[in-house]
Amino acid sequence: MNLEADFNTTIERDQRIEPRDWMPEGYRKTMIRQVAQHAHSEIIGMQPEGDWITRAPSLRRKAILLAKVQDEAGHGLYLYSAAETLGADRTDLTERLIEGRQKYSSIFNYPTLTFADVGVIGWLVDGAAICNQVPLCRSSYGPYARAMIRICKEESFHQRQGYELLMTMMRGTQAQRDMVQDATNRWWWPSLMMFGPPDAESTNTAQSMAWKIKRHTNDELRQRFVDMSVPQAEKLGVTLPDPDMKWNAERGHYDFGEIDWAHFKEVVSGNGPCNEVRLTRRRKAHEDGQWVRDAAAAYAAKHKEAAA
Ligand code: ACO
Repeated sequence: MNLEADFNTTIERDQRIEPRDWMPEGYRKTMIRQVAQHAHSEIIGMQPEGDWITRAPSLRRKAILLAKVQDEAGHGLYLYSAAETLGADRTDLTERLIEGRQKYSSIFNYPTLTFADVGVIGWLVDGAAICNQVPLCRSSYGPYARAMIRICKEESFHQRQGYELLMTMMRGTQAQRDMVQDATNRWWWPSLMMFGPPDAESTNTAQSMAWKIKRHTNDELRQRFVDMSVPQAEKLGVTLPDPDMKWNAERGHYDFGEIDWAHFKEVVSGNGPCNEVRLTRRRKAHEDGQWVRDAAAAYAAKHKEAAA
């Protein structure tokens, strides 16, 4: 029996690779990297919006935001479990994150200056996340693909709550409309960067597409997101901050301006506006939780002893 041939046949037939199946070490490594980065993003992603829980303008908005941030925690834990099925160790992944040795999405390194940011994160950031993650429901690694189904359903709710929040603000005062426009200006370009570097500079895309971990390239998904967002912005009544954005009838897509990739590289390498704040807070939360881990370990040891 040739294990590698079996693996290749499973991929060719669009079937799923499961935890006990043989897989090339490169496939396992790539999956752990992507799933861990994704999990870290969900956990760090709780912070920018979490900042507004105590300042939400009504009980209804507070309840929605609490539920949303709680969902992100659930996604993170769910994804760490998926990483564990590949042999990764959760404690080790957490340490890699807080020591800055493993990445999380660039998008969570920007501040949330007004409550309109909460709406724009729902609309654009969660909108981009859905665009990127719906195809991952067909990713070749079973536990990851299945996790994506539930996560995408919840992300859709997040996207809608953001858009509804913005619609409400746009029906309000001029000051509220200005807040929405300002938040859109600040989040638009970072949202486009969420899809990763351009295809020509994406080190992992070719292999991940061959293994059907990724179903579309970074540029394909970025274009899909732009095409989707333009009519949504029009309906909302905001302007996307890109003077080069225009419909290209020949391509059947919107053309858009140059992305500042030098800025993206800075953010990914730890020098974005909030990288330090995010990691410091995550590190502190981990340290503050030490007593819980100690208590759980002592409780488990006591029960093991009693059972022996
Ligand atoms: N922020 C931080 N790092 C990034 C980003 C980004 N927006 N985009 C790419 N990178 C990293 C990659 O992880 C890769 O890291 P490496 O040096 O460890 O290999 C490197 O930049 C080069 O990029 P690619 O070769 O294009 O990487 P990849 O093929 O993994 O594609 C992508 C990147 C599209 C983000 C992919 O990993 C993916 O789809 N991940 C799952 C979705 C996800 O993680 N979303 C997180 C934000 S959404 C949310 O949490 C609400």
